[in-house]
Amino acid sequence: MRFGTKAIHAGQEPDPTTGAIMTPIYQTSTYVQESPGVHKGYAYARGKNPTRVALERCLAELENAKYGLCFSSGMGAADAIIKLLVPGDEVIATDDLYGGSYRMFTKVFAKYGIVFHFVDMHDFDALERTVNAKTKMLWVETPTNPMMKIIDIERSVAFAKKYNLISVIDNTFASPYLQNPLDMNADIVMHSATKYLGGHSDVVMGALMTSNKDLYDQLAFITNSCGPVPGPQDSFLVLRGLKTLHLRMKAHCENGKAVAEFLRAHPKVGKVYWPGFADHPNHEVAKKQMRDFGGMISFTLKSDSFEQASELAQALRVFALAESLGGVESLVGHPASMTHASIPREERIKTGLVDSLLRLSVGVEDIEDLIEDLGQALEKV
Ligand SMILES: Cc1ncc(COP(=O)(O)O)c(C=O)c1O
Repeated sequence: MRFGTKAIHAGQEPDPTTGAIMTPIYQTSTYVQESPGVHKGYAYARGKNPTRVALERCLAELENAKYGLCFSSGMGAADAIIKLLVPGDEVIATDDLYGGSYRMFTKVFAKYGIVFHFVDMHDFDALERTVNAKTKMLWVETPTNPMMKIIDIERSVAFAKKYNLISVIDNTFASPYLQNPLDMNADIVMHSATKYLGGHSDVVMGALMTSNKDLYDQLAFITNSCGPVPGPQDSFLVLRGLKTLHLRMKAHCENGKAVAEFLRAHPKVGKVYWPGFADHPNHEVAKKQMRDFGGMISFTLKSDSFEQASELAQALRVFALAESLGGVESLVGHPASMTHASIPREERIKTGLVDSLLRLSVGVEDIEDLIEDLGQALEKV
């Protein structure tokens, strides 16, 4: 089956008792057994729930994986993956990582004796200098947030294989519609399903997919033991959201391109970060590993004024000022005062995250309305 057909059908059969075409929400915590230990494959809902199983199968197929697991949040998925490690193990992670992952690594898992190195993954010499006998995992996020850098997945995974590291790709920003890291030999792909997979800003959920049976068995054991599972209602919502993933992503990409081009031509706009531009520093890598360039864009103002960027974000009417991304509705964020406010100004400026940087999650509204909205807000600053 091709992508759109899988998004609609994979993992789902008509309900055997009624023929219902939509997978029911199995709102149950336990399952009646015929005799002790004799059941229909479901014993207790922390371990397995049929709505969640349908979602896990669908997600696995979308990432061309053998196995999928769902979690109560993206961070829940990341937490389970790090629990594959033991004290003393080391992880090499992308340097401009999602802030929540950085916080969990440095504030939670560092306490348990796991060592994290944050490295610019365009610099393979730096990777070679950092890896050592204790390194067990490589953690890659691409495109990065909010600078939209693209890391070469094939090359990073080849590095991981050379040193026998488990390679993990956080595929949240791209979604499986745009790139499939397991096809590039990665071991585990993870998602904040809260974003494009759910797609409607109404669920918090995480997921991971792998084709490695040994890793899957360990991760399923960790999940059942520690319990970060989503409920059946949320599983249903993501299953429903997935049915339009291919349609939404196509629209996100088309609108993203139009918005990026509009911003680039605007006299008040400074830099526009979008991997679809031929002069984006990682455009060739993006072309190689992604099917299109997505709807995530960051841009700066020529004035580089913190106040003007904040005013612009407030003047937008269709774009809502909010954290998160990947929903059908367009969002704007001002990292310097929102998601990245805790990073000292000199540090964030070094990475390109200047005072006026704004990040857009371009939704699937009519493009004319999005461009008019940006135009009227830019007029006001
Ligand atoms: C790239 C990335 N990874 C992981 C997460 C965490 O996911 P969640 O918010 O579902 O826990 C996020 C959330 O913004 C994210 O953007």
